[in-house]
Amino acid sequence: MATPNIRVFPDLAALTAAAKQFVLEQATGAIAQGGQFTLALAGGNTPKPLYESLVSADTPWSQWHIFWGDERYVPLDHPDSNAGMAFQAWLNHVPIPKNQIHPMPTADADPQTAADRYEQTLRQTFGIREGEFPRFDLILLGMGPDGHTASLFPHTAALTVGDRLITVGNKDGQARLTFTVPLINHARQILFLVTGANKQTALRHIFGGTGDPHLYPARLITGNALWFLDQAAAEGVVQN
Ligand code: 6PG
Repeated sequence: MATPNIRVFPDLAALTAAAKQFVLEQATGAIAQGGQFTLALAGGNTPKPLYESLVSADTPWSQWHIFWGDERYVPLDHPDSNAGMAFQAWLNHVPIPKNQIHPMPTADADPQTAADRYEQTLRQTFGIREGEFPRFDLILLGMGPDGHTASLFPHTAALTVGDRLITVGNKDGQARLTFTVPLINHARQILFLVTGANKQTALRHIFGGTGDPHLYPARLITGNALWFLDQAAAEGVVQN
């Protein structure tokens, strides 16, 4: 792996403040350059304080376009829903036009139908054809202790899907929808938010380029990535 771009913060609060500033800087730049900001959100727990902090942001919300990088195949009001968390923490409290917020469809007959539908949403929104990949201004990602990111889990077929934008994953029997590796790698900017000592082992393999990449899927993210770590995750992994 090329030398990763890493910033270490003492705790989640400091990481969240820096992430808020970074997201708003990316938004300002994208809006200045192209009149819109296309952002894909991560799920899990780490980004929730960031989403809550964005409620008070001073930014042209009418030019923000929100997507999700992955989703559990549950209804929006289910406690596991990544979109449900982001709506409650942030999106219900800011004036982004509703037709510019695109939760992954999880009420379809089956996950593959939902994946196909979300691909169409991406193609229509980005004005691209089959075989082309949208270039998100920013994709937020987390990482699990096993090195998974989005819903790209170790040694699953989702890791090798190269011609799709969205694919179906599975975690403990629960279907997931997820961005594919090539879609993520096409982003102008990727920001990983990783906290907790239980991430050290995976980070060591990912930054060290050791171990089976399919065992630590975040290693497959070779695009323009910046890593925000808290001290607990970076301990013994990154020399300060
Ligand atoms: C999900 C997330 C997942 C998450 C990691 C880290 O749907 O669960 O997209 O990839 O980012 O599991 O989760 P934490 O931030 O809770 O550690």
